[in-house]
Amino acid sequence: MSGGAGPARRIPLVDLERQHRRLAAALRRAVVEVVESRQYVLGPKGAELEAKMAEATRSRHAIALASGTDALYLSLLALGIGKGDEVLTTPFTFFATASSISRTGARPVFVDIDRRTFDLDPALLERAITRRTRAVLPVHLFGLPCDMDPIVRVARRHKLAVIEDAAQAVDAAYKGRPVGSLGDVACYSFYPTKNLGAAGDGGMVTTSDDALADRIRLLRDHGSRKKYHHELIGLNSRLDEIQAAVLLAKWPYLRRWNDERIRAAGAYAKALRGTSLTLPFVPKGSRSVYHLYSVLCPDRDGLAAHLASRGIGTGVYYPLCLHLQACYRDLGYRAGDLPVAEEVSRRILALPMYPGLSDAEVRRVASAVREYEAGRKGARR
Ligand SMILES: Cc1ncc(COP(=O)(O)O)c(C=O)c1O
Repeated sequence: MSGGAGPARRIPLVDLERQHRRLAAALRRAVVEVVESRQYVLGPKGAELEAKMAEATRSRHAIALASGTDALYLSLLALGIGKGDEVLTTPFTFFATASSISRTGARPVFVDIDRRTFDLDPALLERAITRRTRAVLPVHLFGLPCDMDPIVRVARRHKLAVIEDAAQAVDAAYKGRPVGSLGDVACYSFYPTKNLGAAGDGGMVTTSDDALADRIRLLRDHGSRKKYHHELIGLNSRLDEIQAAVLLAKWPYLRRWNDERIRAAGAYAKALRGTSLTLPFVPKGSRSVYHLYSVLCPDRDGLAAHLASRGIGTGVYYPLCLHLQACYRDLGYRAGDLPVAEEVSRRILALPMYPGLSDAEVRRVASAVREYEAGRKGARR
């Protein structure tokens, strides 16, 4: 398997080193430039990044923030969502999607997912609406856009705001439109492992709603327009200039990196054909940017252990649905309430995925999968 002397190189789940090696000099220059500029927060780098994000998502405004979590929280606050309100979302996502709702005092109401896309199932949305529902918060999970047309249709019918959680989906598209332009407001994360990752935390909101943008801009900086005068009780959620500079250095590569992920997904589809794994499904007209390449397996933990023994990294996103988390016990959900999400959380496994993942590496992963399946068949005989 090594194709020569010595053990085969490890194939990690995510390889940031490969990305950084290509960019080392540019990143170093970007950081030094900020340090020497002595402008560390809300400066020209952040403004330049905002302009690029607004243009890329065809939005009138982009507001750089300290994290994706803050992007969600401040969007909800700016929409006036709080105590007594309900927000519909998916139980199969990173915790911050739901915790941001809870932090405003509102209640997350979980709607089950589609078993092929793992995104919120639009067919189940309407029956979850009550007179307290104020918004729907779909998540473009693993980089695959949600089926937004029916979601937006239901939302408009019931006068609900639509907040896209695009933390995992920068540069993804739905029916020719970029994510981030499909609802009222969209939220991004620049956590280091994201498709566009900072060297620390960072986030962004995009919107074409002027009043909403103004409120989010105020909220990120203590609700202050004029120094030491506070219109709103905001917080400190400013993106720092070093992170903005790192993101700007990576920006020209984002499309190419996402295309490399899509290419690797194509290689997986070929290499894993005929195995017992259920591969990611991308509906016609959608561009998934494969933040993760997650498959469903008949025996997830067994396969993960086998791949680990072959030097192949995997991950489980997410092992426990949000409606079953200890902190949400008081919401009253029970195991079995959202059966599709629960089954997917038991069977899902993310395989290595990052820009630059080679066909040979994909084939190595696939042959380790086949080796495991052959071993299981042998054991059953
Ligand atoms: C779907 C989703 N929403 C929200 C977040 C929160 O972003 P951050 O970690 O930047 O706060 C993340 C990532 O961590 C995420 O994956």
